Amino acid sequence: MTAQQTELQDLPPGLKRELLPKHVAVIMDGNGRWAKRQGKPRIMGHKAGVDALKDLLRCCKDWGIQALTAYAFSTENWKRPQEEVDFLMTLFQRVLRQELREMVKENVQIRFVGNLQALPPVLQAEISRSMAETQDNRSIRFTVATNYGGRQEIIQACRAIADQVKQGLLQPNEIDEELFERHLYTAGISDPDLLIRTSGEMRLSNFLLWQMAYGEIYITDALWPDFDRTEFHRALCAYQQRERRFGSV
Ligand code: FPP
Repeated sequence: MTAQQTELQDLPPGLKRELLPKHVAVIMDGNGRWAKRQGKPRIMGHKAGVDALKDLLRCCKDWGIQALTAYAFSTENWKRPQEEVDFLMTLFQRVLRQELREMVKENVQIRFVGNLQALPPVLQAEISRSMAETQDNRSIRFTVATNYGGRQEIIQACRAIADQVKQGLLQPNEIDEELFERHLYTAGISDPDLLIRTSGEMRLSNFLLWQMAYGEIYITDALWPDFDRTEFHRALCAYQQRERRFGSV
């Protein structure tokens, strides 16, 4: 990577660098509807969704946003038709294989969070490889939530902590927010400052339930494959207008 490539780009008009979110999370909704509008099968929407995600990752890196987290597959998404689930698993695997070299070159650190053991073994292998090869990269932290559910994440943290109490390694009064966070899938990753959800849905849908306690939420009617730099600029301008009080006055 040349020194030039690591330089941040100028921000588009109206954005202040000091007010940028450090961590942006996205719920990439509307791939199926996008495809339907184009008269294409749903899976074409997911393919277009990957391109939108790649563009957003590059944009975050160019503008100096330190972390991006994307909700790629929820624990509820297994209920989709089998052929769509199979397509998504193969797509994740293919994208990882194709993009790993570029991520290494661009100094991107990729991490996966969720119940990864339930994913197809070939995908698990691709995930392990990509995480190992990019673990020391620092230009941006890219987290992909796959087979992720916020409630399940909290339950598995409770179980792990309860187990330590049972073994006498921990006293109940030692359980605090910091300790709890260390048992979440996202341990070591800062909470998102901004969550963007596309296609107009106004729900968290079991995404980052603990981590979004104080995060700002931005909803756009744009469908995920249409979410481009202009849309992202709009979201960041709206975010910079917000007054974040974290419970104070
Ligand atoms: C939601 O749209 C989208 C998904 C469930 C899949 C998103 C996954 C990607 C874009 C691929 C990411 C890949 C990697 C490797 C990070 P929807 O199907 O719910 O759309 P609809 O609401 O219009 O039906």
